[in-house]
Amino acid sequence: MITFEDVSKTYGGQASGRAALAGVSLSVAPGEVFGVIGASGAGKSTLIRLINGLETPSSGKVIVDGDDVAALGVEGLRSLRRRVGMIFQHFNLLSSKTVAGNVAFPLKLAGRPDAEVRARTAELLARVGLSDFAGKYPAQLSGGQKQRVGVARALATGPKVLLCDEATSALDPETTEQILELVSGLNRELGLTIVLITHEMDVVRRVCDRVAVLEAGRVVETGPVEQVFLHPASATARRFVMEVEGPLGGVPGEAGASVDGRLVRLTFRGEATYRPILGAVARETGVDYSILGGRIHRLRETPYGQLTLSLTGGDVEAAIARFQADGVRVDLVGGAGR
Ligand SMILES: Nc1ncnc2c1ncn2[C@@H]1O[C@H](COP(=O)(O)OP(=O)(O)O)[C@@H](O)[C@H]1O
Ligand SMILES: [Mg+2]
Repeated sequence: MITFEDVSKTYGGQASGRAALAGVSLSVAPGEVFGVIGASGAGKSTLIRLINGLETPSSGKVIVDGDDVAALGVEGLRSLRRRVGMIFQHFNLLSSKTVAGNVAFPLKLAGRPDAEVRARTAELLARVGLSDFAGKYPAQLSGGQKQRVGVARALATGPKVLLCDEATSALDPETTEQILELVSGLNRELGLTIVLITHEMDVVRRVCDRVAVLEAGRVVETGPVEQVFLHPASATARRFVMEVEGPLGGVPGEAGASVDGRLVRLTFRGEATYRPILGAVARETGVDYSILGGRIHRLRETPYGQLTLSLTGGDVEAAIARFQADGVRVDLVGGAGR
């Protein structure tokens, strides 16, 4: 649905030598929820604005729904923007228009007949749970309600793609949860392709299928959320995971590094997360363990657990083999075995 081919972007007024985006290649499949995570200034907004032609690349190509975005004329761009909706951190609603007026605006711009505009607006407000707020003004709404208006407006022209630029960054945790649930529902029920930009790993964990990690304009890591979240390869991705999960323990530099024994990190996924495997392995192999750190959570619908253990006594090799045979991933993270 979306392809970046070696895309770079340097802004006119920018100090020379520092591109906002440098050599970015990625692709987003139809129906996918694709996350882009990065710190402030990493180039996230630039990346998302290249998708709907609000910015043009300095080099490389951005292809969206079959169109080379930079090659589109005025009419082509208009057509593209009907197929690509966008929501923003600060909602960007028109304060002088009512809720219904905001949602109807893109339809009126597209020259749709009045009756159709009214029917479609009502349908969209129902979808985002704001039917009773049609006549209110943005100033009379909470942040979460404003973002619901933003979502309804973005959906007005029936897009295939929804771009979310830090769409929950101005919201409290509970409202964030509701907006993410709404966005997930659009993906599931309408098959909408979603590109979601954020600086929070928790948002990625809740809704994304795949994620790209952006650092100073470059993609430093990309893959399924499960892989990047549970086994981050880049320092940047590890930092984002640490921000939401805290240190897992057992890695030199983290808490617990000076404990004796073989340090291992176990990763349980799905069903294995709840199986009573630790005791069984300890009994069978005579290995004792102390737990240095751990967590259990969900990636979208899939539960996972990660434990950092120090293994002592008994047959440590047999214990590791036994974990692996049970579908548990074992990473050696230091200690005597390293
Ligand atoms: N219109 C612009 N003109 C000049 N520099 C810009 C412009 N927009 C963004 N930048 C610069 O490009 C870099 C990336 O910005 P941006 O894409 O907004 O990052 P993010 O959304 O990750 O915070 C930053 O260094 C920023 O200052
Ligand atoms: Mg930004």
